Amino acid sequence: MVYEHAPVMAREVGQFLNAGPHRRFLDGTLGGAGHSEQILIDSSPDGQVLGLDWDDEALVEARRRLARFQDRVTLRQSSFSAAREILFEIGWHSVHGAILDLGASSHQLRSEERGFSFRSQARLDMRMDRRQSLDAYQIVNSFPAAELEKILRTFGEERQARRIALAIAEARRSKPLETAAELAQLIERVKGSRDRGHHPATQSFQALRIAVNQELRHLELFLADGYELLEPQGRMVIISFHSLEDRLVKTAFRKWGRDCLCPPRTPTCRCGWNRKVRLLTRKPIVPSASEIESNPRARSAKLRAVERI
Ligand SMILES: C[S@@+](CC[C@H](N)C(=O)[O-])C[C@H]1O[C@@H](n2cnc3c(N)ncnc32)[C@H](O)[C@@H]1O
Repeated sequence: MVYEHAPVMAREVGQFLNAGPHRRFLDGTLGGAGHSEQILIDSSPDGQVLGLDWDDEALVEARRRLARFQDRVTLRQSSFSAAREILFEIGWHSVHGAILDLGASSHQLRSEERGFSFRSQARLDMRMDRRQSLDAYQIVNSFPAAELEKILRTFGEERQARRIALAIAEARRSKPLETAAELAQLIERVKGSRDRGHHPATQSFQALRIAVNQELRHLELFLADGYELLEPQGRMVIISFHSLEDRLVKTAFRKWGRDCLCPPRTPTCRCGWNRKVRLLTRKPIVPSASEIESNPRARSAKLRAVERI
């Protein structure tokens, strides 16, 4: 299958990262390497990129696409939550720019055997990192109904989370739900037909994907001290596609931008914190109408950026 993924807000990413020669960049969500390729072009002739992705297929594609940049590119199969360790391992310690473009790629979502798509006849999978053992099959077939309900409600904002969770629990009593298509059909039966052009299982599938890959957990780990990866004046850009992700990014960036973390009205500062970054986006930047028209996946994207002090 040809790897297809159009980078979201590529122009805006270029503007915020302000890539130039002699600089090092981290792409924590390499995917099809659309953003990395642009960074390498903008930082010619000698800017360097460390690209991370936990998906082996993404790395194969990225390696092919970036081959012409030769030793300006270092790729590793890893979560971006381990970025700091990998930077140390390759002797970089810090970067002049970092990008995270969160979520799944169009390639992953469309790929039949990865079990993300409603029509997939493959085993319910949804792992982005195929080295991990937890997959959607285990969650759907062995998690208690109450836990399933919580996943669907929290990560999918699915209003019918309870009904869907109970229907899954009932169905799996006779035999496990094997494929993504089976699960999608069950949800369609519970919820009824399509809602404003979306498949009725859209939110549940998104919720399961987030749970399988513990996407929010990895983002939280990265955001705990992600500013430390940046050189002074180094910039970080994060594009999110889910309100919970955007909230984590907004909260972390605001914290990094504060002068003090003491509770309000504390007479003298005791926290020892000082401002780490300057906010480059007070409000999130969203894609243009024309980008959304040509790439509907960009629809829910929100971009936030900071600069290290
Ligand atoms: C939206 S795509 C990125 C597309 C890329 N910016 C491009 O231009 O082609 C997201 C990619 O990030 C990867 N990913 C998501 N969460 C990750 C994590 N915690 N660590 C490493 N890779 C992650 C996914 O496997 C996927 O390939």
